[in-house]
Amino acid sequence: MGGIFLAQDKQLTMFDIEEAPGRPMLHWLGKRPLRAVKYYEAQLKEQYGEPAEDGWVNRLYWGDNLQVMSHLMKEFRGKIKLIYIDPPFDSKADYRKRIKLKGRQLEGDISVIEEKQYTDIWANDLYLQFMYERLQLMRELLAEDGAIFLHCDWHRVHYLRLILDEIFGPGNFRNEIIWKRADSHNDSRKFGVVDDRILYYTKSSDFTFNPVLIPLDEDYISNFYNNIEEGTGRRYRLDHFTKPAGSIGYFYEYKGAQPPPNGWRCPISTMQQLDQQGLLVFKGKRVYKKRYLDEQEGRQATTIWDDISGQLGGESLSYPTQKVEELVERILLVASNPEDLIADFFCGSGTTLAVAQKLGRRWIGSDINLGAIHTTAQRVSQIIKEQQKETQQQTLLDEGKKFYPAFAVYNVNHYDIFKNALEAKEIVMKLYGVEPVKRSFFDGILDGKWVKVVELNRVCSKEDVQAVFDEILSKGEKEIEATYRRGVLILCSGHEYDVLDYAKRLNVVNIPFEIRDILTDRKDIIFKRPPEADIALKLDGGKAVVEIRQFYSPMLLQKLQLEDDPEEIDDWRQLVEAVLIDPNYDGEVLRPAIQDIPGKKDMVCGVYELPLTGPGQKIAVKIVDVLSGEYFEVLEVGAR
Ligand SMILES: C[S@@+](CC[C@H](N)C(=O)[O-])C[C@H]1O[C@@H](n2cnc3c(N)ncnc32)[C@H](O)[C@@H]1O
Repeated sequence: MGGIFLAQDKQLTMFDIEEAPGRPMLHWLGKRPLRAVKYYEAQLKEQYGEPAEDGWVNRLYWGDNLQVMSHLMKEFRGKIKLIYIDPPFDSKADYRKRIKLKGRQLEGDISVIEEKQYTDIWANDLYLQFMYERLQLMRELLAEDGAIFLHCDWHRVHYLRLILDEIFGPGNFRNEIIWKRADSHNDSRKFGVVDDRILYYTKSSDFTFNPVLIPLDEDYISNFYNNIEEGTGRRYRLDHFTKPAGSIGYFYEYKGAQPPPNGWRCPISTMQQLDQQGLLVFKGKRVYKKRYLDEQEGRQATTIWDDISGQLGGESLSYPTQKVEELVERILLVASNPEDLIADFFCGSGTTLAVAQKLGRRWIGSDINLGAIHTTAQRVSQIIKEQQKETQQQTLLDEGKKFYPAFAVYNVNHYDIFKNALEAKEIVMKLYGVEPVKRSFFDGILDGKWVKVVELNRVCSKEDVQAVFDEILSKGEKEIEATYRRGVLILCSGHEYDVLDYAKRLNVVNIPFEIRDILTDRKDIIFKRPPEADIALKLDGGKAVVEIRQFYSPMLLQKLQLEDDPEEIDDWRQLVEAVLIDPNYDGEVLRPAIQDIPGKKDMVCGVYELPLTGPGQKIAVKIVDVLSGEYFEVLEVGAR
């Protein structure tokens, strides 16, 4: 069985990581800067569309972003102009994606099932270390004139700001943006939290900042544009006409008005001209200039963004914590230009990448969750289709927008072992017979032993062992004896070589302690039963016809509690999110010329006509179900 961290054989290069410049510094248990990373190979799995004239192909990676970024160091170190990330917030929440079956609603509520997408639960120290290492790598990947926007909320913003200060230097802090995403929120016995925070840092003092103008709202207009011009009825506000502190202007008396301490803004000739045009207003000894409302395009954005609603409306892809495009669009417009390279290493449903695609930026995205990769791939494919139509009609090109028509999907490492880390954890617990416990540091009990399951998408580290002993040793001597008499067990998928030795040193209370590596312990583990399908290939004159007759997804039926009653689903297409077909599969990379990705409520077609290119032609069919389960089959012309 393919393991998760078996890529040592692929190690080609080591990349040293520059030491973080700075102070102030936040400390936590097990803090360890990343000194170097090794190169990870990535496997090209799918390619959508043909590359742009300049050969560029956008990239979407399925994998842990630490390894994805280590992979990117070879080609993209110092090349990324803008990074926006919206990492898990450590908010003690399990995010669930609401999944609907396609087409007709089933009886009762079983047509809406929930799939845990990723877990947000970490011990604080582990979370900080997780972010520290990743932010260090992001700094390496950023261009000298690059910027990073880190989206977070009240849970961790204060820690993350210190970590960013340390890595980027406090001098490169630009803003803490407050995004008011809702109008009200009920929080018990404290003020309702309605905002998220976005920390904005640059790599140096040389960076792109294209100011954004926000349309003026009614309140702003009535507060500031509170003068009406006689005769014309035009609204205007009064601007000071004095030179600001720190600079020296022009000194002369004008119609009895004495020059202010730093002088007037303009020479007397300009003052006279403005006066003749009726643009000056005299109040006592002061002179003001009129600014008409009808000449204003908006006001400069501030650090409080209260004009973008968090409501997703029609944008919703039912991905937990999906962000609105308008928010990310503002960031991309401010800090990047067309053709710049944008990255989002926690891309989720692909909001950043969708916006980058629309704005003619190049992009790289990654996510550890296969569901996120499917959602993003489908989202971007749809946008490309729209853009292709616009290019044919010239509108896109007339608008001078750059169009990148291709993107590729890569895997970094072998994740076949699990699809979704949280689900894998539950499966492992069931497999070992661990009785789950709630509201505890430990995940469950097995034969009287307390069990901790380390996330299965990474190896068990000394910090994990430390966290377990911190928990044990936080209790009094008698309680330790009573609670942990039978022992403690860590279940993990791979571990650092010296964790056992480390545990021995920490185990001052001498409790039975064991670490079991599921990769070596249970070679028989099968995490998921893959979907099955019945696909027919018929030749009709000069065409090949691919007909999907049946599709069956055991995992999905299990979730719907219909394992024993599969006939309840009268149309297999209700289970399917997308069908992708490559009519000339080269045996390695899927290049889907047919992308049947219907709208939210519509179903795939199921029958597809393709050109015949001759005997031996290989037609690859990929079916993705609503739970992101994949079925893949290669049909050979002449083989049936
Ligand atoms: C808050 S969501 C991002 C939502 C996204 N901004 C959107 O609009 O859809 C965080 C994402 O980080 C991903 N993630 C968590 N740990 C990761 C890791 N180590 N590597 C890559 N992605 C990770 C999760 O799977 C999840 O999709």
